[in-house]
Amino acid sequence: MHLLRTFPLLASLAAYATGSVAVKRQASSTSSAAGSSSTLTPDDADTECDNTAQSRQCWGGGFSIATDFDKKWPDTGKTVPYTLDITNTTLNPDGTGDRLVMLINNQYPGPVIRANWGDWLEITVNNKLANNGTGIHWHGIRQYETCDQDGVPGITECPIAPGSSRTYRFHCTQFGTSWYHSHWSVQYGVGTLGTLVIDGPATDNYDEDLGPFPMTDWYDETAFFNNPLSRIGPPQAYNGLINGMNKSPDGTKGKYYNATVQSGKKYRLRLINTSVDSAFMVSVDGHPFTVITSDFVPVKPYVAERVFVGIGQRLDVIIEANQTVGNYWFRADVPNTGLCGSNANPNGIRAIIHYSNSTFADPTSTAWDTTGDNADRCTDESFNSNKLEPYWDSFVPSNPLTASPELLSVQAQESGVTTDGATIFRWAINMTALNVDWDKPILEYVQEGNTSYPPSENLINVPDTDWTYWVLQEISTPAGVPLNLPHPIHLHGHDFYVLGAKESSVYTNDQASELNFVNPPRRDTAMLPTAGWLVLAFETNNPGAWIMHCHIAWHVADGLATQFLETPNQITLDPSFNEICSAWRDYYPEKAVYLKDDSGV
Ligand SMILES: *[C@@H]1O[C@H](CO)[C@@H](O)[C@H](O)[C@H]1NC(C)=O
Ligand SMILES: *[C@@H]1O[C@H](CO)[C@@H](O)[C@H](O)[C@H]1NC(C)=O
Ligand SMILES: *[C@@H]1O[C@H](CO)[C@@H](O)[C@H](O)[C@H]1NC(C)=O
Ligand SMILES: *[C@@H]1O[C@H](CO)[C@@H](O)[C@H](O)[C@H]1NC(C)=O
Ligand SMILES: *[C@@H]1O[C@H](CO)[C@@H](O)[C@H](O)[C@H]1NC(C)=O
Ligand SMILES: *[C@@H]1O[C@H](CO)[C@@H](O)[C@H](O)[C@H]1NC(C)=O
Ligand SMILES: *[C@@H]1O[C@H](CO)[C@@H](O)[C@H](O)[C@H]1NC(C)=O
Ligand SMILES: *[C@@H]1O[C@H](CO)[C@@H](O)[C@H](O)[C@H]1NC(C)=O
Repeated sequence: MHLLRTFPLLASLAAYATGSVAVKRQASSTSSAAGSSSTLTPDDADTECDNTAQSRQCWGGGFSIATDFDKKWPDTGKTVPYTLDITNTTLNPDGTGDRLVMLINNQYPGPVIRANWGDWLEITVNNKLANNGTGIHWHGIRQYETCDQDGVPGITECPIAPGSSRTYRFHCTQFGTSWYHSHWSVQYGVGTLGTLVIDGPATDNYDEDLGPFPMTDWYDETAFFNNPLSRIGPPQAYNGLINGMNKSPDGTKGKYYNATVQSGKKYRLRLINTSVDSAFMVSVDGHPFTVITSDFVPVKPYVAERVFVGIGQRLDVIIEANQTVGNYWFRADVPNTGLCGSNANPNGIRAIIHYSNSTFADPTSTAWDTTGDNADRCTDESFNSNKLEPYWDSFVPSNPLTASPELLSVQAQESGVTTDGATIFRWAINMTALNVDWDKPILEYVQEGNTSYPPSENLINVPDTDWTYWVLQEISTPAGVPLNLPHPIHLHGHDFYVLGAKESSVYTNDQASELNFVNPPRRDTAMLPTAGWLVLAFETNNPGAWIMHCHIAWHVADGLATQFLETPNQITLDPSFNEICSAWRDYYPEKAVYLKDDSGV
C-alpha cells in the first residue's frame, strides 16, 4: 500500500552526500572533450577536479561527466526557492497586436529557473487565473521517489484551483537544460512556460554560457480558441519567437533577440523547442555547432552545421567566436513544411549573434549550404546515424523480450460528430484516446488501492521486469482519416533508450536485428517517424504513474497519450496531495465558468 511521504529535513548535510548506491563507471571517451582534462579520473573523490572553462568534465566531490546519474547524484543539502504567479493578461511580442495569454510572473518566457546538480528546487505556483485550473510540469526531471511532483493534472495531481497555490519540491538528480510548462489542457500554448537550467559538468569545454534559446511558434489566435476537437489540422503559425522575441513577418515591428560574444571565446547555447506544433532546424551562420547534450543526457561531442530540435527536445551546443567580428544570424527554420509544422513568416525565425566591438546591425551573413545535407528532414539527429551517442556506455540488454516487445499503435481516428454538428477528432495510442479525470488523478486510485482504472485513462501496467521494451507504430486508421505525421514522443519519469526508428515501415520481429543495443541514444523525447516505428526501452527503476505523449499540444489534447503505472506499491505521496484535490473539487465543476473539453493534459 502507499506510504505517506514527508519531506526530508533540511539539515545542513555535508555537501555531496551520495544520493544512492555508488557505481563506479569509467568515461567511455577521451575525445576532443577531454582537452586539458584528459588525465582526470571521473568519479574519483580523491582527485582534485574543479569545473572550469578548461575542465568542464569535472564537477567535484566524486562527481563528473562520467557519473551514471540514474544511480548516483550529489545531495548538496541546498534548497533553491522560486515563486511563479500565473496571470491572465495580454502580450504583443512582435508588435502585431495583443494576444490573450497566461503568463508566469508577467513575462514570456517565464523566469529561468536555475540550480546546481544535487540541489532541491522548491517552487510555489500561485494560480491567479480567474477561470482556469493549472498544473506545472518540469519537463525531463526524473522525479525519483517524487512522482506526485510531476505536475500532470488527472494523473499525478488534481489541478491547482483558481485562487489557490501549491509548492512543488524535487531533487535535481540530473543536469543540463530543460523547460517547465503548464500540463493543464493546451494552456502552455498561451504562454505558461519558462526554461530550467541545472548546472553540472559537460562533455566539452566552453568559456561562457549564453543560456537558454527557447524557440516557439506563435499564433494569431490563442491555443484555446483553436479547439482541436472541432477542426481537423492545426492552424498555421504566422510567426515564431526566440526567447520571446522576433520581428513581425513584414519586418517593420518587434525586435530580434541578441546575444553578445567576444572574439576568441567559446560559448554554450541551450536550444529548446517550446513549440505547440513546430519543429526547428537550427543553425548559426559561419559557426558550426559542437553538440554536447541531448535532453538531459551528455553525448559524445560531434560537429554539425545545423541540428534538428523537435518539440520538447533540447540540444546544448557550443560555438566558437572565431569569425570576422560582426553580426550573424541565428536561424530556427521549420523544415519540411507541412510535416514539421509550418510558419508563415517569410523572413524566418531569427536572432542575432553579435560580436562585441562591432556595430549592431541586422546581419548580412549567409546560411550554411544545404546541398546533400538532408536539411529539410523532420527526423531526429540520431535518425540513421550514430549521432547523439551518450557519453558513457549504456548497456541495454537484448534479451528474449526484445523479440516480442509490446506493440503500441499510434493512429488518428475521426470518432464522430458532436450534438452541435462539430467533427470530433482524436489521436489514439493502442486504439484509446486518453481522457483524464481532473477530479480523480491516478495517484489517488493508487492511494486507495483501487485498481479499477477507467479505460479512458489508457493505463498500462509496466511489467515486473528490470527492462521494458515498446514499439510505437504509426498506423493508418481503418475507417477514419488516413493521416500520417511525425510525432515527438515524450516520456515522463525516465530517459528512454532509442533502439531504432524507421519511416514508412511496419515493425515485425524480423526488425529486431536492426535495433541498436550498443550505447543507443538516450533521451526523454524522440521522433516517431511518419508512418513508421520507434522502439524504446527503459529500465523499471522509478515508481510512479508516468504519462507518455505526443508533445504536439493539440495532439495530446486530442488524446495522443498513454500512461505507464510502475511499481505502484512503492509510490509515496506528499501529505498536501489530498488538500490540493479538496480545493479543486470545491471549485470544479460547480464554480467553474468553463468545462473540460479535451483530454485534460
Ligand atoms: C481571461 O480574461 C478574459 C478577458 O477578461 C476572460 O474572458 C477569460 O475568462 C479569462 N480567462 C481566465 C482563464 O481567467
Ligand atoms: C541586445 O540585447 C540586450 C540584452 O537583452 C538589449 O539590452 C539590447 O537592447 C539589445 N540590442 C539590440 C540592438 O537589439
Ligand atoms: C575591443 O576593443 C578594445 C579597444 O580597441 C580592445 O582593447 C579590446 O581588446 C577589444 N575587445 C575584444 C573582445 O575584441
Ligand atoms: C519544434 O518541434 C516541432 C515538432 O517536432 C517542430 O515541428 C518544430 O519545427 C520545432 N521547432 C524548432 C524551432 O525546432
Ligand atoms: C572556427 O571554429 C570551428 C569549431 O568551432 C572550426 O571548425 C573552424 O575551423 C574554426 N575556423 C577558423 C577560421 O578558425
Ligand atoms: C474505484 O474508483 C472508482 C471511481 O472513483 C469508484 O467508482 C469505485 O467504487 C472504486 N472502487 C473501489 C474498490 O474503491
Ligand atoms: C492495448 O489495449 C488492449 C485493449 O484495451 C489491452 O488488452 C492491452 O493490454 C493494451 N496493450 C498494452 C500494451 O497495454
Ligand atoms: C481556460 O480559459 C480560456 C479563456 O481564457 C477558455 O477558453 C478555456 O475554455 C478555459 N478552459 C477550461 C477548461 O477552463
